[in-house]
Amino acid sequence: MKILVTGGAGFIGSNFVRLALASGHDVSVLDDLSVGDRRYLENLSLRFVQGSILDEDLVRQEVGTHDAIVHLAAQTGVPKSLANPRGDCQLNVLGTLNMLEACRAAQDGSERPRFVFASSNAPLGRQVPPATEDKAPLPVSPYGASKLAGEAYCLAYHGSWGLGTVALRFGNVYGPYSAHKTSVVAKFLDDIETSGSIVIDGDGLQTRDFIYVEDLARALLAALESPVKGEVFQISAGIETSIQTLSELIEAVVGQKVNSTHIEARAGDVRRNYSLIAKAATMLGWKPQVSLEDGLRRTYEWRLDWKSRH
Ligand SMILES: NC(=O)c1ccc[n+]([C@@H]2O[C@H](COP(=O)([O-])OP(=O)(O)OC[C@H]3O[C@@H](n4cnc5c(N)ncnc54)[C@H](O)[C@@H]3O)[C@@H](O)[C@H]2O)c1
Repeated sequence: MKILVTGGAGFIGSNFVRLALASGHDVSVLDDLSVGDRRYLENLSLRFVQGSILDEDLVRQEVGTHDAIVHLAAQTGVPKSLANPRGDCQLNVLGTLNMLEACRAAQDGSERPRFVFASSNAPLGRQVPPATEDKAPLPVSPYGASKLAGEAYCLAYHGSWGLGTVALRFGNVYGPYSAHKTSVVAKFLDDIETSGSIVIDGDGLQTRDFIYVEDLARALLAALESPVKGEVFQISAGIETSIQTLSELIEAVVGQKVNSTHIEARAGDVRRNYSLIAKAATMLGWKPQVSLEDGLRRTYEWRLDWKSRH
């Protein structure tokens, strides 16, 4: 397939393009480099277009020459969505609409182009865990609302025009090519490197569902290669891990004593978060393979190597 990856110079994108290339696909990346890092794509045999998903003409031109789109480019965080809800909406809702409109224009009666959308558990918001596909979304942040709108447009473009859309709700993703990220694994590793200590919000017993980025990349590819359309899938490890346990696993991986201090819990932080992933296993034939211990070790080794070269 000729695959267009929006946000391909970002964390998940740069991992996905490696898997897609290794699987024999032809890859183009559309990224404005507002956040991503061109160096993540060094020495890869792909086509790179620097530009924005908000540029309708560019998007239409790029989408038209591809068989499949992996749409990762987005405003990716809750705090930024709180600071600038309109900007979050513009990028995540109108940016996604631009992509889908370009797909609609490119439809030629065949199954192409397929469209895989990066969503998250944020649309489920204050739903009681575990996260499943059949629970009513109850977003609490503008980010949750904009990702929910993206999912809704994917479903609507399938319902109205038969477009091959699939939305994947990612858990907490970690792994290589995340030097620019501030999510908890990247932040703990950064803090250990600079100060030998970490700061844990609240009592540390809040839980998250961590998925290694290569497992996630396999889910994206499975969704692209599957005939399934008009569906939403939870994609994570399906394992509830406390932040306290995560910090202990990281301590073992880095092989040094890590001092941890606790500060007040963040306002609005969810207490528990994990997903059931049976639907993806059944319909996409996908299952995560990398344990948290192994994934953390690979992430740490990647960081050491990256820092020694950049
Ligand atoms: N990382 C996670 O844990 C996680 C969890 C759930 C969902 N997601 C979703 O997965 C996707 C990828 O996340 P990530 O962690 O790789 O983020 P990232 O910030 O590393 O990558 C996003 C990429 O999109 C690019 N981009 C931003 N605005 C753009 C625009 N207007 N036009 C073109 N490119 C643009 C950035 O430069 C960056 O390279 C996002 O949609 C995010 O919301 C991520």
